[in-house]
Amino acid sequence: MKIDPAGLERKIAHDVLVGAVLPRPIAFISTLGEDGVYNLAPYSFFIPVSMNPIIVGVGIGRKRDGSKKDTLVNIEWGKDFVVNLVTEPLAEAMNQTAGEYPKDVDEFQVAGLTPIQADLVKSPRVGESPVNMECRLHQILSFGESTRKNEFVLGEVLRIHVKDEYWVKGEIQSTKLRAIGRMGGDFYCRTGDVFEMKRPVVR
Ligand SMILES: Cc1cc2nc3c(=O)[nH]c(=O)nc-3n(C[C@H](O)[C@H](O)[C@H](O)COP(=O)(O)O)c2cc1C
Repeated sequence: MKIDPAGLERKIAHDVLVGAVLPRPIAFISTLGEDGVYNLAPYSFFIPVSMNPIIVGVGIGRKRDGSKKDTLVNIEWGKDFVVNLVTEPLAEAMNQTAGEYPKDVDEFQVAGLTPIQADLVKSPRVGESPVNMECRLHQILSFGESTRKNEFVLGEVLRIHVKDEYWVKGEIQSTKLRAIGRMGGDFYCRTGDVFEMKRPVVR
């Protein structure tokens, strides 16, 4: 099979992409709206982009009617967001927040999660998540046209919170976090089956 993206129907293009780029980390993004309502939604088009400064990027598509998703609207207004790590115990709650709720719905309440005031940004942190990254908007790139537009939001990480139990000897205990990843379709993966490989030392 050879697939050329040009002219592909949106859903097929999406399904091919998420079936070919995997597993993807899930950024559980919390924001504050101009109306004072908190917003929370998962985004798996998510990637670390730079280490110094620490920049992360997230790809945000459009709602079915072509309008901007609430997360993007809030980031454009508030200029900040928080990325929360999704773990196995948070999977169901994360999925609940992915519904296309009206803008005045607080997905923290929908999912029964706890918003915690962040230190440096207006957006709240998810109290139940073991890792939160407070981000200040750096730049928004736009791709595509009209209702098929996508935005790529770059945020500078100003502060990272790690629950103490996962911070041992100056390192995040990544294999203990039980992070989950997104596969194609509605499938997810666990990170319980890890293995270690040392890199070759070249002198
Ligand atoms: C695990 C998961 C990952 C998702 N990743 C993305 C993504 O990377 N980009 C995107 O636009 N939508 C993504 N979605 C869909 C959004 O979460 C969904 O459109 C949500 O309603 C957006 O909420 P908001 O309008 O409050 O921002 C994802 C959904 C799930 C369940």
